[in-house]
Amino acid sequence: MSTYSYPRFPIIGTPLTSNAIRVMMLGCGELGKEVIIELQRLGIEVIAVDRYPNAPGHQVAHRSHVIDMTDGMAIRALVLEEKPHLIVPEIEAIATQTLIELEAEGIVEVIPKARATFLTMNREGIRRLAAEDLGLPTSPFKFASSLEELQQAIDQGIGYPCFVKPVMSSSGKGQSKLDGPQDVVKAWEYAASAGRVDAGKVIVEGLIDFDYEITQLTVRTLDANGESVTAFCEPIGHVQKNGDYVESWQPMQMTKKARQKSQEIAKKVTDNLGGRGIFGVELFVKGDEVWFSEVSPRPHDTGLVTLASQTQSEFELHAKAILGLPVDVSLKTPAASSVIYGGMDVKGIGFTGLEKALALPGVAVRLFGKPEAFLKRRMGVTLASANDTDQARETAKLASVAIKTVSP
Ligand SMILES: Nc1ncnc2c1ncn2[C@@H]1O[C@H](COP(=O)(O)OP(=O)(O)O)[C@@H](O)[C@H]1O
Ligand SMILES: [Mg+2]
Repeated sequence: MSTYSYPRFPIIGTPLTSNAIRVMMLGCGELGKEVIIELQRLGIEVIAVDRYPNAPGHQVAHRSHVIDMTDGMAIRALVLEEKPHLIVPEIEAIATQTLIELEAEGIVEVIPKARATFLTMNREGIRRLAAEDLGLPTSPFKFASSLEELQQAIDQGIGYPCFVKPVMSSSGKGQSKLDGPQDVVKAWEYAASAGRVDAGKVIVEGLIDFDYEITQLTVRTLDANGESVTAFCEPIGHVQKNGDYVESWQPMQMTKKARQKSQEIAKKVTDNLGGRGIFGVELFVKGDEVWFSEVSPRPHDTGLVTLASQTQSEFELHAKAILGLPVDVSLKTPAASSVIYGGMDVKGIGFTGLEKALALPGVAVRLFGKPEAFLKRRMGVTLASANDTDQARETAKLASVAIKTVSP
């Protein structure tokens, strides 16, 4: 059977007619929502899929579905019903084996490639690829399937301080930093309780004492002649708390060498993963030294800042790249983003103080429209552009503090 291949420079038909280009988003949070808006602008028919009703992306798509995306049969049935040309995963927790099969059967093209979604949903897949196959510098690491194995891995080389993370988790879920032997049992139990699907395995990583960390957004697409090209956005600096991002800014000042190494690492990883789309390559930097941490084969949460800082946001870049169109990765202005949390566990939350936030110079706001808030759930983001990133960070933070959440 021949593999379905999305045509080079296809005719973009009319949505909701037989010649439409149909894209199915698997996962429709705030990142998916912005990608859908960009696809809508290009006249693409968008089918939005998430595990709960009225997800942010559901609210801006042509049609929406609610399914368990870890259920391969459910994904297959929906793909056969909706007949998308492209599947665009927005999250990691997907039955990626089914994506591999659907791609191999020639039914649909997966962005960037089904193999990339499979490798990156599990820390073991991507870490072994980066460190062992590609020889990239990473933190020292080992995998453990029991408390005893974890203790052994630490005692026999990883040492303290170190990080323990479920192999299948994101946004810092189930992740702990261990400062000594007293932290091991707690870390194992936390990881076992918070991981996805195959919760029985963790990665333990030695701490990298970095000066700062960045996301190197990297776009793979075609140029006007149909040749494959890779383009790099300006580096994004960010601050993480408990494994989740709280603020980001662009551009991040780096030494020439560190900047060059970052792009080399990003190129090696994304060349190997292949396909079209944007990738968020997470890197740790100390002086001129750079370590690979992980990669998202999709827009990155820290890249929300590009809604203000770039000529084309990471979402517009992704939309164009998946369609195989030329992109412009240029920086427009220094800018920063700051996260707005739910601050409480409630359905139908409200927001006040936008008049104060939006009165600040260069500020924009995104409220994602999530139906249910949690204390630490990201519900929105403030963006600020300024003459430099220090000023932008300060203003973005002031704006996010000005916005208060209220119960319904
Ligand atoms: N080995 C490490 N050394 C230093 N910091 C780390 C290490 N691993 C994780 N971190 C910190 O925790 C954050 C989240 O870790 P990450 O592996 O990216 O998890 P997630 O997949 O949940 O984003 C990183 O961005 C970094 O700030
Ligand atoms: Mg990360």
